[in-house]
Amino acid sequence: MKSSDLKKKYIEFFKKKEHEEIINSSLIPEHDPSVLFTTAGMHPLVPFLLGQKHPQGKRLVNVQRCIRTGDIEKVGNPMHLSFFEMLGNWSFGNYWKKQAIEWSYEFLTGILKIDPSTIHVTCFAGDKDSVRDEETADIWQEVGIPRERIYFLGKKDNWWGPAGATGPCGPDTEMFIDTGKEKCSKTCMPGCNCGKYFEVWNDVFMQYNKTEKGEFEPLEQKNVDTGMGVERTIAMLQGKKSVYEIETLAPIIDKVKELAKIKDKNLGELKLKSLRIITDHLRAAVFILGDERGVVPSNLDQGYILRRFVRRAIRHAKLLKINEDFTTKIAKIVININKKNYPLLKKKESFILKEIKKEEERFRRTLEKGLNRFKKMATDQLISGREAFFLFQSFGFPIEITKELAVEQGVKIDEKAFHLEYKKHQELSRKGAEKKFKGGLSDASYETTRLHTAAHLLLYALRKVLGKEIMQKGSNITPERIRFDFNFDRKLTDNEIKKIELIVNKKIKQAINVEKKEMSVKEAKKIAKSDFQYKTDIVSVYVIGDCIEICMGPHVKNTSELKKFKITKQEAVAGGVRRIRAVLG
Ligand code: ALA
Repeated sequence: MKSSDLKKKYIEFFKKKEHEEIINSSLIPEHDPSVLFTTAGMHPLVPFLLGQKHPQGKRLVNVQRCIRTGDIEKVGNPMHLSFFEMLGNWSFGNYWKKQAIEWSYEFLTGILKIDPSTIHVTCFAGDKDSVRDEETADIWQEVGIPRERIYFLGKKDNWWGPAGATGPCGPDTEMFIDTGKEKCSKTCMPGCNCGKYFEVWNDVFMQYNKTEKGEFEPLEQKNVDTGMGVERTIAMLQGKKSVYEIETLAPIIDKVKELAKIKDKNLGELKLKSLRIITDHLRAAVFILGDERGVVPSNLDQGYILRRFVRRAIRHAKLLKINEDFTTKIAKIVININKKNYPLLKKKESFILKEIKKEEERFRRTLEKGLNRFKKMATDQLISGREAFFLFQSFGFPIEITKELAVEQGVKIDEKAFHLEYKKHQELSRKGAEKKFKGGLSDASYETTRLHTAAHLLLYALRKVLGKEIMQKGSNITPERIRFDFNFDRKLTDNEIKKIELIVNKKIKQAINVEKKEMSVKEAKKIAKSDFQYKTDIVSVYVIGDCIEICMGPHVKNTSELKKFKITKQEAVAGGVRRIRAVLG
């Protein structure tokens, strides 16, 4: 059976049981700022689990695309994916445990034809928040699962939700299929990750609402929320040892192998892990970019997760000696496999390819240097928070890349200190942003960032052409243009304008890395001209070749990103102050 057949059968089965099919929602939750991605089918349904009336009724079914960032570090093992599809059926205060379990059993044995003697289930063992779920165990026994294949486990295994910090949750019962493999130890049982037991489905009995105080308050309406992982279930049905061997993932991993020129079947653990990480991460990246609410790589929220996916994939590609630009080749395959179910991926193809390529180019520019810097740091046995932050800031290394490198090199890393450093920096940028230039930036988009860096070069060129005494008197930057005010008391000649443009464009052509240094205001004012009063003690100094300025704003990594600079207009604003407008190509 293929993934598409499983999805069809599932939806049909529950439609026959009077469920309405609902849409496969965006990966980026619309009304929930507490989480970055849709992590389960229930996510868009939270208000209805809490009692609001759903327009399509009390029984729903769907297939939902999900991203679980919590599983990123597990990616590489046979079963974990950060992007996957989930099948689910729901009851909002309608049917309850007995009906849900009977239907789960009927679907597994009647439709998927799974041998009933291979099914094992787990139930909630009970604690101070909720009783031991004997009721569920009894129902399983009634449908035909003998007691010896019913297990009781604690909250860690048999409780689901809330998806964020608060919300609907409850005890659950999970279904596992015994693959027939030997037990890995005497204590091996469902829930063990050795591959003997395949988890296929989870029925959650959502009867509590977790409050902000951490209390579990009973819900008036008892709900059922279920989730079946498409990729895992298909792997099990096809008798595969890992999700990467099923038809929706195999062509991707095969392409990665081809690019890495890997022919041997028996790969070492490390190579296999890299292949899987590249496959999973780029698949997730394509779905984030190609989503209806898609974002682009950035240092913020979903954009940063996307950046981490792409960069980690590139780092692993480097381990496999894939050095050419490869991300678009993989992205094309992901789009082709999924375009039938997700036509938007095809429509957004050129955007997806363009963005993923840009991110690859950006990261490849600093990767080599960052790796060299890491090697030097690693001679110390401990990577400090400052060092890890330096790798993040100067070379764009997300912390997990540095962590992975540390593990590979057998050195330790002070992750806690990194996070402190990161927070400190964010606080500084926030403070800086509040008084950034007099007009400030209109937003923090990539376009604005490019123009912002160009504004520094403009000031540099103005000083070269008009004199050292030129100072910035204000600026306003939008994603479209720079508006820049400076002290000067006459109209600039055409020749001067041309010279200024030439100087800026020369800096762009030279593809200079934009370096950032943190230092005290006193030190900074020694090397950079500034008449601003800074409230913080430490400021950032940007160094673009011999153009040096104090600034807290966002910058591009390399001047080549600015492409082409052009002055569009000049005017007088006030006595002794002129204004220039400029754009980038
Ligand atoms: N929401 C439950 C899960 O994701 C069904 O496992």
